[in-house]
Amino acid sequence: MYPLLRPLLFALDAEKAHHLTLDGLGLAHKLGLLPLVAGRPVSDPVTVFGLSFPNRVGLAAGLDKNADYIDALGALGFGFVEVGTITPRPQPGNPQPRLFRAVAQRGIVNRMGFNNLGVEHLLQNIRRRTYNGVLGVNIGKNATTPVENALDDYLLCLDAVYADCDYITVNLSSPNTPGLRDLQFGEPLRRLLDGLKTRQQQLHAQHGVYRPLLVKIAPDLAADDIDDIARTFLQLQIDGVIATNTTIDKTALAGMPLANEAGGLSGAPVYEKSTAVLQRLSQQLQGKIPLVGVGGIESGAQACAKLDAGASLVQLYSGLIYRGPSLVRECAAALAAGKHG
Ligand SMILES: Cc1cc2nc3c(=O)[nH]c(=O)nc-3n(C[C@H](O)[C@H](O)[C@H](O)COP(=O)(O)O)c2cc1C
Repeated sequence: MYPLLRPLLFALDAEKAHHLTLDGLGLAHKLGLLPLVAGRPVSDPVTVFGLSFPNRVGLAAGLDKNADYIDALGALGFGFVEVGTITPRPQPGNPQPRLFRAVAQRGIVNRMGFNNLGVEHLLQNIRRRTYNGVLGVNIGKNATTPVENALDDYLLCLDAVYADCDYITVNLSSPNTPGLRDLQFGEPLRRLLDGLKTRQQQLHAQHGVYRPLLVKIAPDLAADDIDDIARTFLQLQIDGVIATNTTIDKTALAGMPLANEAGGLSGAPVYEKSTAVLQRLSQQLQGKIPLVGVGGIESGAQACAKLDAGASLVQLYSGLIYRGPSLVRECAAALAAGKHG
């Protein structure tokens, strides 16, 4: 059905199409239609960072920032769903337009800027969810919080959602919050993650449950940076890494007006770069920290290639926009057939 809908959606402004699609999905879910569309989820159980996943294909962060559509998205056959990025306080994000399609390249440029309704809104949504699969919450900092105080924002979000989700992702890699990516390096990275790991231990003791802490990194990292980052993750016993977010490298769009738009590029143009970062990180981590591969997956074969590069799980975003929800099953089935370790 999606091949029929796509031309209609692509005729609309990208952000309008986004909201319309999610509203339609929510309605289809309420009417009980989604199981007819999505079929039964692929069963390919796997345990990663101590959590049991029904299959290896997840929804990447940013599609459902406020967890408003969590039940509908959860009915599409994903093995896990990540909501957010959420910040402590609501914020509008950047002015529109801020979301653009590069259709010929099968890419998306976005500078949303963490538009979201704040952690309390998300918390209410996740508390009343009926989706009973694995749920991750991706956390960030408000644009008005100085980068030096970023830890305070991440701690506020971690405290708020800890008891009500399965894992938490620390997003250090959005290109649309000034200074955020600087937190991926050296002493600022160490200090931030040390503070979060300490609080995770306290919350573990307080709630009696251990929630894995994942870090999401950018694809725009030099080899030496990746090696440094890997050392810090190993020292601080980070539970998992998501590689990667969008790229600021727009060479794939050279000659197009879109190449000059600020923001991060996702979809097919980020695939190679993202997979290369995943692979290097995997070599450095030597299997000690599980990896989630995300960036440019548009087929079952590409999902398998992320596992070959070292990932245990994968996530989708832009591929869903270009291929529709059937991509979830295609990837999950390919990974199941691949019998990856
Ligand atoms: C419109 C849009 C919004 C996004 N928002 C977020 C976000 O809030 N937090 C985050 O960690 N990643 C966000 N991402 C990045 C995706 O989760 C993913 O890492 C990236 O797009 C690469 O995967 P893809 O090529 O499959 O889209 C966003 C991506 C897009 C296209």
